[in-house]
Amino acid sequence: MRSQARLFFLLFGLIGLVKCDEDEFLYGKFPPGFKWGLSVASYQTEGAYQEDGKGVSIWDTFTHQTPSPILDESNGDIACLSYHKSEEDVQLLKNMGATTYRFSLSWARILPNGTVDNINAKGIEYYDKLINLLIKNGIEPVVTLYHWDLPQHLQDLTGGWPSEEMIPYFVQYAELAFSKFGDRVKTWTTFNEAWVVCLIGYGEGVFAPGIKEISETPYKCAHTILKAHAQTYRMFDEKFRPKFGGKLGIVIDSGWYIAADENDPKDVDAVERALQFKHGLFASPLVFGKYPDIVRKYVDEKSQNEGRSSSRLPTFDEEWSTFLSGGVVDFLGLNHYTTQMVSAKPTRGPPSWYTDQDLSTYQDDAWPKSASSWLRVVPSGFRHILNWIKNTYGNIEVLVTENGFSDTADADWNDDDRVNYFKQYTNNMLKAVTIDGCNVTGYLGWSLLDNFEWASGYTERFGVHWVNFSDPDRTRTPKKSAAFLKELFTNNGFAKVDKKDEF
Ligand SMILES: *[C@@H]1O[C@H](CO)[C@@H](O)[C@H](O)[C@H]1NC(C)=O
Ligand SMILES: *[C@@H]1O[C@H](CO)[C@@H](O)[C@H](O)[C@H]1NC(C)=O
Ligand SMILES: *[C@@H]1O[C@H](CO)[C@@H](O)[C@H](O)[C@H]1NC(C)=O
Repeated sequence: MRSQARLFFLLFGLIGLVKCDEDEFLYGKFPPGFKWGLSVASYQTEGAYQEDGKGVSIWDTFTHQTPSPILDESNGDIACLSYHKSEEDVQLLKNMGATTYRFSLSWARILPNGTVDNINAKGIEYYDKLINLLIKNGIEPVVTLYHWDLPQHLQDLTGGWPSEEMIPYFVQYAELAFSKFGDRVKTWTTFNEAWVVCLIGYGEGVFAPGIKEISETPYKCAHTILKAHAQTYRMFDEKFRPKFGGKLGIVIDSGWYIAADENDPKDVDAVERALQFKHGLFASPLVFGKYPDIVRKYVDEKSQNEGRSSSRLPTFDEEWSTFLSGGVVDFLGLNHYTTQMVSAKPTRGPPSWYTDQDLSTYQDDAWPKSASSWLRVVPSGFRHILNWIKNTYGNIEVLVTENGFSDTADADWNDDDRVNYFKQYTNNMLKAVTIDGCNVTGYLGWSLLDNFEWASGYTERFGVHWVNFSDPDRTRTPKKSAAFLKELFTNNGFAKVDKKDEF
């Protein structure tokens, strides 16, 4: 009887866990050693755009055009002045109890023209100092090689990422970075959000380098980036892993998608298609050695109907397929912010990644807004995308490399909406890890600082520190969200506390 009763309670306990529904807050801890920290990117924070021998990047060129393509006509010339504030930024991280910091290397700061025949010692020095400071303070550096600021000279020389001529330049730059910093940097990512680079930079032209070639160019761009990543992985494996150890991944951005009508199988199919076009397009070749079947089928058929002799989506030849199918990532970085509704109603427009999918997306007006038109608050989407990644790629290791919320410049430091966003999203991550068994090893919130938000300039703020962009010294002030994350980081999860202490 006794053991039966125990079994009975155990079963009910399990059902309780499983049933823990989407709205119910979960108290609990993340696995020991879970990594916590914040993210930034070179162009958005460093400033010092022409100091100490730095070369010109495509973002310098893009933001200096007249008329300005940036909403508030600003640029990253000064940004957060982080080039001169390593000590202060590391102190801010330390104050928050962060164990990890993700930043990117400015390629043109290290290699002014992008090529290894001209190395800027001052650039190496700056990152050496930052890395050493982090390690001294018990904070692990997570380094991104490419967060969008391509040396202008390489753009001019090759035409940029749509050209496979870019591959050796990237691999040589990566090799230099590994050789200089690999003794201390153990977590590397090659590219940040190739989707944005290829669609927004080389397709719509809204981001640098401002190229508007929507039909075919973004796929070529994706193809080059995937090959550049793969060759870098092989080089890392052969020359650096044996010596330094460490892991190499890539950062892929993906929202979650919900069927407009969950009882309509067409909409349900469209959800999987949306995920494969957004996430699978980049992850699938690196994990399985080929583009997702559904993406292959749709783009091939559309291209044929357009009377083209070949598909707009390039193909990996046999040698490449074999090479890739061994798997060329150690983990997947995930940047996740928001969710979209999906219906099987095709999007109209010229042939492109958008129309190829035969679906349309929109956001529900009931979802809470942020300062960014694309970012609505849907915390459960985070748990869903983590589960989809787990199920699609065999529970591969995931490092959350970005997640965050924007408000406007005049918002005060009591950023309750951001606190609420972080609280709900990380609680869904806790459910994904502890209930669903998703292999997430760390979380890096976006961002340590308010910063230059690309085409939106300084009109949208994602920082947990408020930066005074009117002050020549770019003073930083912690917001309430910094205190919230500190508690989360320190507790490694959510401890049940008295109501009065709770955020
Ligand atoms: C970099 O490239 C520019 C042309 O784009 C050239 O004028 C300059 O001399 C190059 N600098 C170096 C250091 O190679
Ligand atoms: C998580 O990922 C790591 C690295 O790929 C792997 O070794 C480990 O087995 C995975 N854990 C689970 C529970 O699948
Ligand atoms: C921002 O800096 C400017 C210039 O130093 C100063 O006048 C202003 O008071 C600062 N704003 C805040 C909110 O601290």
